[in-house]
Amino acid sequence: MRVILVAHLVALVTAQTTLDQPPGPKTWPPTSTLASTLNLAPSVLPNVLDPKAPDAQKLCPGYKAANVVSTENTITADLTLAGSACNTYGNEISELTLEVQYQDTAQLNVKIYPKFLVPSNRSLYILDDSLSPSGSIAVDCKANNSDLVFEWSNDPSFQFRVKRTNTDEAIFDTYGHKIVFEDQFLELVTNMEPDYNIYGLPEAIRGAFRLPNQYTQTFWNQYNEMNDQPIDANMHSTHPVYLETRYANGCSKSHVVYARNLHGQEWLLRPDRVIYRTIGGSFDFYFFSGPSPTEALAQQQLGVIGTPVMQPYWAFGFHQVRWGYQNWTVLQEIIDGYAAANIQLEAIWNDLDYLFQYRIFTHNNNTYPVPEGQEFLERLHANGQYWMPILDPNVYVPNPNNATDANPTYDRGKALDLYIKHGQGDDTSDYIGIQWPGFSVWPDFLQNTTQDFWTNEMKMYHEQLPFDGWWLDVNDQSSWCTGSCGTGRLEENPVHVPFKLPGEPGEINYDYPEAFDQTNATEAASASAASASQASAYPTPSTTVGTATVGFTSPTPGVRNITFPPYALNLTLAGHSLLKQAVAPYATHNDGFHITEYELHNTYGYTSGIATYKALLSVFPGKRPFWISRSTSPGSGALTGHWGGDSNSRWGNMYMTIPQALTFSVAGIPYFGVETCGFNGNADMELCTRWMQLSAFFPLYRNHNSRNTIAQEAFRWATTAESTRRVMDVRFRLLPYQYTLFYNAHKKGETVLRALAWNFPDEESLRGVDNQFMLGPSILITPVLAPLLRSSQGVFPGVPDTRWYDWYTLEEIKAARGENVTLNAPLEHIPVHVRGGSIIASQLPGNTTKTTRSNPWSVLVALDGAGEAKGDLYLDDGVSQEPTDIKQIEFSFAQSTLNIFVTGTYHDKSPLANITIAGWNSGDAQCRGVEVFAGGKSVDGSNVKITNQSGALQVTGLECVVAEAFSNDLCFKFL
Ligand code: GLC
Repeated sequence: MRVILVAHLVALVTAQTTLDQPPGPKTWPPTSTLASTLNLAPSVLPNVLDPKAPDAQKLCPGYKAANVVSTENTITADLTLAGSACNTYGNEISELTLEVQYQDTAQLNVKIYPKFLVPSNRSLYILDDSLSPSGSIAVDCKANNSDLVFEWSNDPSFQFRVKRTNTDEAIFDTYGHKIVFEDQFLELVTNMEPDYNIYGLPEAIRGAFRLPNQYTQTFWNQYNEMNDQPIDANMHSTHPVYLETRYANGCSKSHVVYARNLHGQEWLLRPDRVIYRTIGGSFDFYFFSGPSPTEALAQQQLGVIGTPVMQPYWAFGFHQVRWGYQNWTVLQEIIDGYAAANIQLEAIWNDLDYLFQYRIFTHNNNTYPVPEGQEFLERLHANGQYWMPILDPNVYVPNPNNATDANPTYDRGKALDLYIKHGQGDDTSDYIGIQWPGFSVWPDFLQNTTQDFWTNEMKMYHEQLPFDGWWLDVNDQSSWCTGSCGTGRLEENPVHVPFKLPGEPGEINYDYPEAFDQTNATEAASASAASASQASAYPTPSTTVGTATVGFTSPTPGVRNITFPPYALNLTLAGHSLLKQAVAPYATHNDGFHITEYELHNTYGYTSGIATYKALLSVFPGKRPFWISRSTSPGSGALTGHWGGDSNSRWGNMYMTIPQALTFSVAGIPYFGVETCGFNGNADMELCTRWMQLSAFFPLYRNHNSRNTIAQEAFRWATTAESTRRVMDVRFRLLPYQYTLFYNAHKKGETVLRALAWNFPDEESLRGVDNQFMLGPSILITPVLAPLLRSSQGVFPGVPDTRWYDWYTLEEIKAARGENVTLNAPLEHIPVHVRGGSIIASQLPGNTTKTTRSNPWSVLVALDGAGEAKGDLYLDDGVSQEPTDIKQIEFSFAQSTLNIFVTGTYHDKSPLANITIAGWNSGDAQCRGVEVFAGGKSVDGSNVKITNQSGALQVTGLECVVAEAFSNDLCFKFL
């Protein structure tokens, strides 16, 4: 019996796995000479872990300010080294410029950079606007009308504070610490108040949203193919920004600190200070005064990084992908599976499987032939559904000795000489690393020709297979060898990546979520037996990735070592090397100054993103590009959304997606989602059920897993399917609300997913809550986050002043302030509550967003303590980049009357069918009837039915009364 079960599991996994791969050697052997050419230094500890690491604060002299010039909105000064250079981790720069700008009432910018910048070294220090947006002085902004004030002193060396004008409170304060500015090391320390509350600094997988005060966040974008979810470590994106909230006397004030620098860097959070260190660039701090958390976040977006891009309406449908969908027929089966289970599916996505040997802009002729694909896509599009293939930025280099190994995409790029260069000495050859298809090169998106190349490739591809958008992967610039390992070895191409791919012999994943042995003891036992027999059959570890060891060099006068900089960052990959699993820091770009990856590495996600966004605009003129990016940096939110990496099918990982999502709200990237049910490892029914529930409230709702695990589409388990139908009903009813939140984010920098503390900023007990979150101002989610539970626990912020209603029953919640309420949550149920005082317009769910959009409307009025409520709704065609025809609706309810105020001309054809008023019967109020007025005139309401249930008033049958859902001056009086 056991043998049969094991065999069954193996068969299940391999049946779903396409082992289509380049025919190269099984493992790619790194040459022994490679390590020696890189001059590897002996292993050392990264600095933050090394108790003997030199302390720049003790060793360096700091600076003195002179020649201070103030205008009505700026302060400039010269900063000169106040003693002998310490050169702790680089060459100390003796002359600096201080530039302070009062940019807006709530925005102050402090820059410190080398005084003598020549064009050829400018890019080492100054982050160009094309790589990350910057702020500027708003017309009329003057120091004397700012919320913030810059204060400085030379005693004992230059130090500064940023204070709130009205309270004199310092929000950033370097007093007592030195400014350290070397060519490969910058350090600045700000004093923090005890037990501070700071949030942000993504991207990291963390066990808490509120950052601990003994914690180090390192930034250098890397991808660990073996474990993509390292805890508290550097990941795919770099966002040096945090939000701080301070509570006093029952109130709070929040501000945002953003350090505009994308070099490798570290933020050391310590009990009384935050130490900021980078391995290059300049200080370029932006301070935003808030004072509410959401105001501070909006100021950051409006003033510097840009507000989030408006997503097409269909982005909010449900998306399914997996690595291992072998052919068009399998894709169709998945689509049919969702339809048969009566679960909404908006888009089917493809991983690498559709490509010929993983080479971009190709297709696998055997499994994904074009004619069949065209028929498939025609059907899909006619159904109102979409196709989202994967796109990687690396381009496969053909084997020069094999005439049949042509790659026209590579040739077109090569003809334009647009690939990143090797950059060693006088070598102007291309940098050749390893990615999925084998030895590959990377387009240099800093060149103008690269945009044309990228657009052209995309357009040609679209003519063959009309895709609807992309997911741009591995643009954290991962390469799985050290240095330009393909140089001189192209005749070996296509080489296999230097590790076994998921699903190859020995690489079946038998991991299951926590408690699987309790929920399914038999399968758990057979999985563990299968795992043991795999381990004994394939005892060798699967990886040979990366030969670089850790290194740091002693600083040498006049020399910058960009391969092993003197300050060793605490990078997650073994060896802590900048070289590991990424294009090497010495690779160069083709700009006039041959700027290196050392400066630009963390910007590749953004620059490849701009090119992808613009190319999509050319493919779909006038339409909002839909794509997501694995690597992001400040400014990316104005172009795209992001997914949280290769999550593990584990309960702990599911929980940590909440802090991760909220940190991306801080970074201005609200279109965020994760690999629902987990990417690595097998999901089980219970985890997948709960995860499908949780992700239903994240803007990007996508289920994705690796090809060496069992299938986990929402219809695979009956309970998961039932639960998904129920939660999808909630999500789809909330589509207009979520779309409106995105419009408000796009126009005003408002946040979409919110920490409870942001909506209730004065309630200090909420400062650490991250097992619950809110969608906008009105919807509270209290998910189940652990196995075997049939309830969840959460608080109801704002009570007793704020009223809360159960989404499903509309019953009012009775909870005391701060009480951790236990909520009933059987497997098919996720607790969702609506905040009193809100009005939410929704449409009856269809099977896609398109069909939903033609269904009748309902309006839910959730009354506050005064019997009032308000809400808004934004409508447009859902796709136009600059819609000219829009409609904005303001709802307000007071004195038993619902008023609707409409601006704009967008015509929505669906009628208004129902109005529900939650909290109506909290007293003895009864309802005898409803009088409907349109354009000031009373309308016959005889078809209208009124029922009273759970204290809620329900009015149905309105579609017979009102032709257009939301016309101006429509008003309902409840008698
Ligand atoms: C990376 C991506 C993952 C994808 C895989 C294969 O691991 O993060 O989503 O499935 O590459 O393309």
